[in-house]
Amino acid sequence: MNKIFPDSFMFGGAIAANQAEGAFEQDGKGLSTADIQPYLPNVPKTDLHFNDMDSETLKKYIEGDYYYPKRQGVHFYERYQEYIDELAKMHCQTLRLSIAWTRIFPNGDEDSPNEKGLQFYDNLFDYMLKKGIEPIVTINHYELPLNLVQKYGGWYNRKLIKLFVNYSKVILDRYHKQVKYWIVINQINLIHFEAFASLGILMDKVDNYQEAKYQAIHHEFVASAMATKYAHELDSSLKMGVMLADSLVDPMTPSPQDSLLAFKRNRLQYYFGDVPIRGEYPQFILNYFKDNNIDLQIKEGDLEVIKENTADFLCVSYYYTNTVDATKDSMEPAEVEKNPYIKANEWGWGINPNGLYEHISAYWDRYHLPMMIGENGFGYNDVLTKDKKVHDSYRIDYTNEHLIALLKAINDGAEIFAYCSWAPFDIISAGTAEMSKRYGFIFVDYDDYGNGSGQLIPKDSFYWYRKVIDTRGTFL
Ligand code: BG6
Repeated sequence: MNKIFPDSFMFGGAIAANQAEGAFEQDGKGLSTADIQPYLPNVPKTDLHFNDMDSETLKKYIEGDYYYPKRQGVHFYERYQEYIDELAKMHCQTLRLSIAWTRIFPNGDEDSPNEKGLQFYDNLFDYMLKKGIEPIVTINHYELPLNLVQKYGGWYNRKLIKLFVNYSKVILDRYHKQVKYWIVINQINLIHFEAFASLGILMDKVDNYQEAKYQAIHHEFVASAMATKYAHELDSSLKMGVMLADSLVDPMTPSPQDSLLAFKRNRLQYYFGDVPIRGEYPQFILNYFKDNNIDLQIKEGDLEVIKENTADFLCVSYYYTNTVDATKDSMEPAEVEKNPYIKANEWGWGINPNGLYEHISAYWDRYHLPMMIGENGFGYNDVLTKDKKVHDSYRIDYTNEHLIALLKAINDGAEIFAYCSWAPFDIISAGTAEMSKRYGFIFVDYDDYGNGSGQLIPKDSFYWYRKVIDTRGTFL
């Protein structure tokens, strides 16, 4: 196998504003949904307490006496130069990161943007470029202005299209000279594990929750297409991407029932790519909607804008794979079984590098669109030794095997231009709001309550990843 990544291929990392920046009230920033996610130490690690949300729980989280880790993050807002310096020392070529909507429009529906918020990203992108790190920017990564949930009901409300497009226009206008690669919405398909973070719908406020989710996604498709249209008109060199959290499944057994269920479930996932990439709703999803009492409201012009403004690239995040068992599971994406042949980490995430090769190749075969790996990584409660080292051979092994799998896909013809490891330095976990679920090549000395020296300490994997970058993968 050819073990060299192409010269144009970028190695890097990925983070999200709400998990790193902190400074939740600084310089005019408004409250986002991420700012009210509490740390719940006694809840099992696999519990998704911040997923399907109702008004009562939301109120409890807003008014309760909790510790909210994302309000502090890892102080990236104040310390971004230190973090970027460390990434530059690792020879990182790109960093995927997001803009906090609430820094630009604190409530999401103001007429004019917050200049101080805009200035922060001016400085950040300038500094990254000075250090040779290409920014890849996600416009919306799991943080809606809280006001848009409370006043409008999240993405279920069609008004969100206009508000989102307005926000997108402001940041595209401002940063298009610094930022060439844009991912419109983080993991647009992950509406079963990150339903609230993603769509901001309160379950008790809608009659049919499933229908509301698909309606919200339709609004996201339209808004994404409109933002893409605007970007291309503004600057034809801009690349606008759609992002999927890889959720393709294997059949649990060779039984025809498991096989059929896996096929149907995977098709349901492909719909999230088919609409923004092929520009139309496939017949199988229209049938699925009909069979499941999902009556989508599609307004005049929606399908045209989707058709005419398709994505330039596909960004995929990949962590694990699961299986489906027709005797237990249905078409509900959250219903999956662990693969008994695969070892899972503490959080129940089963490690399968072959899955990366298979799924990336499958996306390539289906879409033939340039791709990037937007996230891939190994969460672990790392131990900092007395002499300030972190011996994370498990993370090296994980990344090594996934990069080999990626090379196989590239050698088979898939056009992949970047690999962004989640996350290059430790940040707050999206799902559990822990700090101790660490992904970084750089240890960040804060604990689950935000205490610690804040020192940035390269782990063993830091030196290993730098060697990968320097050799373009030859020693993998
Ligand atoms: C992805 C999200 O799904 O998974 C990230 O886009 C998140 O925001 C990552 O951090 C890992 O999940 P977690 O819950 O371990 O932080």
